[in-house]
Amino acid sequence: MSEVIVIGGGVIGLAISIELRLKGIDVKILRKKELKMASLAAAGMLAPHAEKIALDSLFCLCQNSLNLYPQWIAKLKNITGKDVGYLPTGIIAPTFEVSTGGSVGGIWWDRSQLEDQQGNLAQDITGAWWYPEDGQVNNRLLIESLNQAALNLGVKIEEDIQVLFIEEKAGKVKQLITSAGEISSQCYILANGAYARELIDLPVRPVKGQMLALQMPKDSPLTRVIFGDSVYLVPRADGRLFIGATVEDVGWSDGNSADGIRLLLERAIRLYPPLRDYPIQEMWWGFRPATPDEAPLLGGYFAENLILALGHYRNGILLAPITGQLICDLLVEGKKETLIQEFSPHRFVGKG
Ligand code: FAD
Ligand code: GLY
Repeated sequence: MSEVIVIGGGVIGLAISIELRLKGIDVKILRKKELKMASLAAAGMLAPHAEKIALDSLFCLCQNSLNLYPQWIAKLKNITGKDVGYLPTGIIAPTFEVSTGGSVGGIWWDRSQLEDQQGNLAQDITGAWWYPEDGQVNNRLLIESLNQAALNLGVKIEEDIQVLFIEEKAGKVKQLITSAGEISSQCYILANGAYARELIDLPVRPVKGQMLALQMPKDSPLTRVIFGDSVYLVPRADGRLFIGATVEDVGWSDGNSADGIRLLLERAIRLYPPLRDYPIQEMWWGFRPATPDEAPLLGGYFAENLILALGHYRNGILLAPITGQLICDLLVEGKKETLIQEFSPHRFVGKG
């Protein structure tokens, strides 16, 4: 295998391209710039524990990816010289209920322990789970850096080409029909997130998330992610506080809605009352690539030279390092680790 086309240049397509290029493979990314990229809309939490992922195999994938993060970030910095706001500083998940039982990876703080760690939370919060392994990365800086790393390594990025059809012949992808004509390669990786359904018959759908950013005062004691019930607060190093996110099954319906932003602000102010006075800086939305079991599709699909890497739903930023590694191992060495087999796209064949 010496050349690959990657369809999609979000966090997943870029992470895979970099790994392949480091193995000496010629990589071209086709990326339609006008299509909204979930990777830029995300909050950037690295939160396998706070997200309470129920599916064991997915939790394991997320945990493995979290473990890869420090070395992955260091590798990117070596290539680009840039920082990406990686903060493995833990996540606090406050609760208004009386806590019973345990929480994987979590340490329970009662009200007084919580107050020692994080001031200004709502008076009726009873305590919090503290997830010391979780954290955040500035996903916008991460995409900038991945783009730069890919270019530095010699990945070709074609910004204005949209793939319209994947043409198959005798069990192989013969060529791509694109907005710029026919394009062919030895192998193809489909990493086009929520847009997958336009090219393959598998049940991937967009799940909209609205977000907003507030400007924190200079002396704000918020430095770690606060993960509440249906809302989270992500304080960035640049003084902005990201608040997210709605979870809406509304297809490709564009825009921020008054109700979506109201809900987020109500929940956020309930959790952390001082932010009622913070100025609003920005609002945006994105589409999570969702599958029926909320786990990604990783591996070969319908043609021997086509690999899928999509459907990362709520955790694509977290899952980028492991996805890059597993897909590269599969393509370069034909290595099918047990972990990747759990995410075979074939589990949904006939269910599109
Ligand atoms: P995308 O980033 O959407 O990229 C898809 C790419 O495919 C784009 O470059 C697009 O231009 C291209 N494309 C699509 N169709 C075509 C075509 N036909 N031809 C050419 N190019 C095409 N994850 C976390 O880990 N932590 C979080 O805190 C988090 N928060 C989130 C908050 C919100 C509001 C949202 C919406 C998502 C969040 N996510 C989070 C999820 C994460 O953003 C996604 O799982 C991840 O970004 C998916 O990456 P991707 O590369 O698969 O898709
Ligand atoms: N992982 C956070 C979100 O998808 O909103």
